[in-house]
Amino acid sequence: MKVIVCKDYDEMSKEAAQIFIKQIQEKHDSVLGLATGSSPIGMYKELIKANKEGSIDFKDVITFNLDEYVGLNKDHPASYYYFMNENLFDHINIDKKNTHIPHAEGTDLEKAAKEYEESLSHYEIDLQVLGVGKNGHIGFNEPGDDLSSVTYVQELSESTRVANSRFFDDIDDVPKFAITMGVGSIFKAKKIVLIASGTQKSFAIDYLLNSKKISSKVPVSLLNLHPDVTVIIDEKLASLVIK
Ligand code: F6R
Repeated sequence: MKVIVCKDYDEMSKEAAQIFIKQIQEKHDSVLGLATGSSPIGMYKELIKANKEGSIDFKDVITFNLDEYVGLNKDHPASYYYFMNENLFDHINIDKKNTHIPHAEGTDLEKAAKEYEESLSHYEIDLQVLGVGKNGHIGFNEPGDDLSSVTYVQELSESTRVANSRFFDDIDDVPKFAITMGVGSIFKAKKIVLIASGTQKSFAIDYLLNSKKISSKVPVSLLNLHPDVTVIIDEKLASLVIK
């Protein structure tokens, strides 16, 4: 596992974007695994800039997002569908037909999860970006006794709902469930870049880098089993976890 320490969030975003830029330059029809949340927003800004300057072309790029909240319609500003359009897709020359986000609106959620895994199975993700929850979740694979290998419907933990309530008017508005890629689906990615900043991620990143343990109770720790992971963190977080 490679660990890169950057001065701050801006530098982290540039560093992560460089990895994606190289990937797209080397393979015009790259399959990218994408995340939402605060961690990748700066990186998406850099990718938009690179696309506008002409150094990367998204025409043939295919994307799969990790997850989506259950029950939010696509126009809801906190839905991940809305987030991706707002923070990336509306500003680059990607063909929206090539973008995939779980459909988590209907009544048959199990079927929706199965269909997502099925469409994913036709591709191989070249490069996956991940954030991490302060409880160690990746995607919405919450800490538990066991973890799903494939896309599934996950009940969100209290810690995640509290952390994500910043995107909603009220904690009661935060959905209780999400459809998320499973750990197995995430692990099929050839390369993974994890972005984490700030002190609130210290438990998860300390466990990942220092515990020498792999546990479903801290899902990010499973990344120790993947052959190609780059962890990008800021100095603030590094001061707590690099020993
Ligand atoms: C988002 C996702 C989550 C976030 C994590 C960190 O698609 O899958 O795992 O990456 O909750 O969120 P931020 O970056 O907002 O701290």
